[in-house]
Amino acid sequence: MGSVENFSTMPERAGEKFSMQRAAKGRFYGAKSFATGSLPKFIAIAACDPNGVIGNAGKLPWHYPEDLEHFYRSTEEAVMVMGYNTFCSLPARAFVGRTCLVLTRNHEVKNAISLRSLAELETYYRNHPELLEKPNFVIGGAAIFTLFFAEHLIELALITEIHKDYEGDVKFPLDSIVGWHKKTILAGKEFSIILYTRAKHGS
Ligand SMILES: NC(=O)c1ccc[n+]([C@@H]2O[C@H](COP(=O)([O-])OP(=O)(O)OC[C@H]3O[C@@H](n4cnc5c(N)ncnc54)[C@H](OP(=O)(O)O)[C@@H]3O)[C@@H](O)[C@H]2O)c1
Repeated sequence: MGSVENFSTMPERAGEKFSMQRAAKGRFYGAKSFATGSLPKFIAIAACDPNGVIGNAGKLPWHYPEDLEHFYRSTEEAVMVMGYNTFCSLPARAFVGRTCLVLTRNHEVKNAISLRSLAELETYYRNHPELLEKPNFVIGGAAIFTLFFAEHLIELALITEIHKDYEGDVKFPLDSIVGWHKKTILAGKEFSIILYTRAKHGS
């Protein structure tokens, strides 16, 4: 497996350096590009097997340290929106230096902000417009990816495609990115990283 490059050093269109942060800021943030009210367009980040499996019994079904590094590097200093089950599945390290917004109707959370609905999330963004200056990721799990795709809140999907089947009980909604523009960020032996961009007139 080759190492996962830092986004800021990846060669990109027209010879420019690719920066996830710059791409996100330039294209998706700012008052004119809001999807719904005050919410930004989000970047989904996930790792899944060929069938879309992302988790099993509340955990990741696999351990790929290089993919975890990719996740940590990509979300550094970012805003991460997640569901309660995903929040419970992550180690404390995942929250350091990041703004963590957790959707939950039934729980309070420590070291993160709990929000009861998409409407509450929207209010939170309206009251914290500085968050729109950062990359805004939705990090899962299945329930939250499904919700955000259904609400057309996702513009980019950074997917680690694992080249091996796993047992799992939750899946990424792969149908949601059919027809999206695909760009291979890393082609590895065990997994590849693909950046999907919503087609202009796509769903
Ligand atoms: N491979 C990957 O990239 C990846 C990424 C993330 C997670 N995962 C895996 O995915 C699994 C977790 O996914 P999941 O689908 O079970 O759970 P999840 O999406 O992380 O969280 C679901 C929970 O979020 C809350 N919620 C959902 N919709 C809501 C809404 N509209 N408003 C407020 N709260 C809402 C509810 O929590 P309450 O019950 O508290 O109300 C619900 O039970 C784990 O196995 C995890 O390891 C994998």
